[in-house]
Amino acid sequence: MMSIAPRLERIFSNTDAERILLMNTTQKDSYFTYLTGLYAGSFESSILIAHRKKAELITTVLEYDVAKRMCPKEIDVIAAESRSKTMELLKGRLMGKAVGINGTFLPVNLYRSIRKTGKPKRMTDVSKALASARQIKDWPEVELIGIANNIVKKAFSKITGNFRVGITEKELASEFESLMKKYGADEPSFETIVCFGANSAVPHHVPGRTKLEPNSFVLIDAGARYLGYCSDVTRTFIFKPDMKSDKYRRMLEMYNTVKEAQEIALKSIRPGVRCEVPHNKAMEYINKVHNGIYKGRFIHGLGHSLGIDVHDVGPNLSPGYKEKIQENMVFSDEPGIYIEGFGGVRIEDDVLVTKSGGKFL
Ligand code: GLY
Ligand code: MN
Ligand code: MN
Repeated sequence: MMSIAPRLERIFSNTDAERILLMNTTQKDSYFTYLTGLYAGSFESSILIAHRKKAELITTVLEYDVAKRMCPKEIDVIAAESRSKTMELLKGRLMGKAVGINGTFLPVNLYRSIRKTGKPKRMTDVSKALASARQIKDWPEVELIGIANNIVKKAFSKITGNFRVGITEKELASEFESLMKKYGADEPSFETIVCFGANSAVPHHVPGRTKLEPNSFVLIDAGARYLGYCSDVTRTFIFKPDMKSDKYRRMLEMYNTVKEAQEIALKSIRPGVRCEVPHNKAMEYINKVHNGIYKGRFIHGLGHSLGIDVHDVGPNLSPGYKEKIQENMVFSDEPGIYIEGFGGVRIEDDVLVTKSGGKFL
């Protein structure tokens, strides 16, 4: 079982808060998952109070047994019969203390009621300290992201067998998700994107009733969630190519250009490099090759952090991100070229930053 001690140590080294309180609403705060390992279950209105070396979880009677069984040993699990009992349990625990909260999640009404009930000395937003700990992946996070990545790649290795004239984007998306489940996914990490033909020029196209035709693009952007961790991978295929056609030649050139841009970006992903640099390298390449015909067609950032959330906390690999890439960060590397009315190519892989540089998972 994981230990949360190193996570607590990293978080508390960046804040002078004496306690950190994470409270779920009907939604689960992803930092709650990070510090409890409770990736399944709703844990609605549950509260985690983190100390420097241990934590207390106040949860419902309903989910007490699961929490007790699944939580790391540093967490003392307490059952509360009702929401008012939960709030009452805060009283002795926060009084006179400097309490940190996740300002990127906790709603204002709950913030006020915790302050009123708990009477802390002060309450401050510690979301930056939380993010700077979580953006560096530890054991078993890297392994879990790796498994999630293997699952989606296995589904990609089989999905071409499902390509057939007339299948709709919606049908193929559902077949892709079934394959991911078959290979071990708990669920898709986001709604699978499938685009046929010209629809691939829209990066976040919603799969519809468009039917697959020969000599056209099939773009699939998908991810698996495995024990709470996400993968996010995109592949672009050319279905039943007509090798002699001008359209095929154009599609292939776009594909090869994006593939090369992805490799160029990967080479500059290493500790110490500013996060915007890999994006700029890929962008410069796409803008200048083939006499600049793809200039301005790479229309989004190169990548994002990946972890518990598919767009995880931590920096993006895109313009304006001046922070340095660090060892054990995980990013997507996903350049693309999009031509309205014709189609688009995106190739996305997940990258682990090692001491010696970025490695595709
Ligand atoms: N699947 C959305 C993205 O690639 O960021
Ligand atoms: Mn994606
Ligand atoms: Mn992505």
